Amino acid sequence: MQKGMKSGRLYCVVCLVASLAAAALVAVLVSGTNLRADEAGKDPAVTRARDQVKMLDSLYKTAVVSVTKRYDEGPPAIKVAMDVFGAMDKEGWHKAKLVDASGAPQNEANLPKTDFEKRAAKAMQAGKPYYEEIAGQGEKRTLYAATIVPAVLKRCASCHGAKEGELLGFIRYEVPVK
Ligand code: HEC
Repeated sequence: MQKGMKSGRLYCVVCLVASLAAAALVAVLVSGTNLRADEAGKDPAVTRARDQVKMLDSLYKTAVVSVTKRYDEGPPAIKVAMDVFGAMDKEGWHKAKLVDASGAPQNEANLPKTDFEKRAAKAMQAGKPYYEEIAGQGEKRTLYAATIVPAVLKRCASCHGAKEGELLGFIRYEVPVK
């Protein structure tokens, strides 16, 4: 009986050591993955990349809405946005793309293609205005972000065959984390 208790206690010590070791391993693994590392919002490089997305989003959306309003009968402002996205990519600043989340795009080429875009489309359809992921390690990290694009004007809605305010898609950003 006493012997049994002793070995029970011993087993417990082994148990404790093993679980501490496992916890330490998990902690090392977790701190090695970037997504977790910034969960508390303490990574300044990630904060800078997010701020860049916020600034770009305001810039692009203001421009597209302004062009749509001012050139009332003109071609879709997305054509201008696509030119600017192309120039930013060519110069190596960031990548951006307008992606469909309505399931009925004007251009099939704008349907979600990558795994990130598919996950972002689902998030937008579930009512989230923003979705992000961080990929890569060390110097090569990238912030993938998606920001909602609803039919903000009557004109967006009528050209897209949607209702005003309805979800059309999102802008997908890829910004280096540095
Ligand atoms: C005159 C018609 C027209 C208007 C107005 C218009 N769009 Fe579009 N939109 C298009 C066309 C055409 C495309 C496809 C462009 C391409 O890929 O070459 C498009 C593409 C898009 C896409 C990508 C998904 C898709 O459907 O292909 C989104 C999102 C989008 N527009 C949002 C908007 C928003 C928001 C507004 C209002 C600010 C707007 N559009 C106004 C015609 C229009």
